Amino acid sequence: MENIEWGKLPFGYFKTDYNVRCYWRDGKWGELEISSSEHINIHIAATCLHYGQEAFEGMKAFRGKDGKIRLFRWEENWKRMKRSAEGIVMAEVTKDVFYNAIVKAVKLNEKYVPPYGTGASLYIRPLLIGTGAEVGVKPAKEYMFMVFVGPVGPYFKEGFNPVSLQLVYDYDRAAPQGTGHIKVGGNYAASLRAGLRAKDEGHASALFLEAKEKKYIDEAGPANFFGIKNNTYITPESRSILPSITNMSIQQLCKDMGMDVEKRNIPVEELESFEEVGACGTAAIISPVGKIVDRDNKKVYEYCKDGVAGPISTKLYVTLRAIQEGEEEDSHGWTEVIE
Ligand code: PLP
Ligand code: COI
Repeated sequence: MENIEWGKLPFGYFKTDYNVRCYWRDGKWGELEISSSEHINIHIAATCLHYGQEAFEGMKAFRGKDGKIRLFRWEENWKRMKRSAEGIVMAEVTKDVFYNAIVKAVKLNEKYVPPYGTGASLYIRPLLIGTGAEVGVKPAKEYMFMVFVGPVGPYFKEGFNPVSLQLVYDYDRAAPQGTGHIKVGGNYAASLRAGLRAKDEGHASALFLEAKEKKYIDEAGPANFFGIKNNTYITPESRSILPSITNMSIQQLCKDMGMDVEKRNIPVEELESFEEVGACGTAAIISPVGKIVDRDNKKVYEYCKDGVAGPISTKLYVTLRAIQEGEEEDSHGWTEVIE
């Protein structure tokens, strides 16, 4: 293994030694298979290629100070993948297949789990695709589930430093009654143009509005949105955003800290009144937002005026990481040590 500069890792693909695969055929899942190839061989008419029958997950394994490897709330990722499969009519991955595959993939690549204190972690990417051949628009009869892993650093190059988001009106990531609430590839395809433009124009990500009324904040390309004011954590309630496991966890931490939590519509005008704003997700962890630029109205909302994250976001970030790395008592039973 080459010398890895753990502290400098970007968020990206990193080749590791093995991945795990499982096939659904004749109405059932087969045995887990281990592969050292980075490629898969699928039918030219596979439904994942033509009709977007594809769902994925994103989760992380962390190395603690005690040297142990911990998974964070993997069961929630399994539940979400089940909802994704159901949402686009794919075979549902059973809990056992999901758990055994992620544990196998982590253990087989244990040497790639970044050391404690480097800020990096092992990203786990479960992926479910329709592999059966169909030309008419219908669900496949065969599926493939796989898990690959790789060490990653922060999603936004800023790390835990304020990022800029671009509020956009001319693109939607998800339709009001579409697939925004599940983790399927089509949502990400729909977000690419706005995301690239946001980057070209100097921002970390696009910030999407709820598509029907275009009045309320939905979420950032790869992360949920939150605002904090008057000791209250406020995050959008919307059918077109992905229910983030990080967000769910932060809401609990806020309650533990004696804060109020509100899940409701956040009108654009309310951006003015927040004391702190952030984006959260497995990859983004908690990314403090320093600035939101409303692209159409040329309006700018500024936070973190001294260039550093606000006190509540900082406390949430530190607490969350400490739980993930096994340093803070895991009073909600969120982590699981991989033996
Ligand atoms: N929103 C979107 C669109 C995402 O892709 C992700 C990443 O999974 C999130 C939010 C954050 O969700 P989680 O905290 O479960 O990773
Ligand atoms: C994650 O936060 O795990 C994600 O999947 C976000 C992005 C890489 C799609």
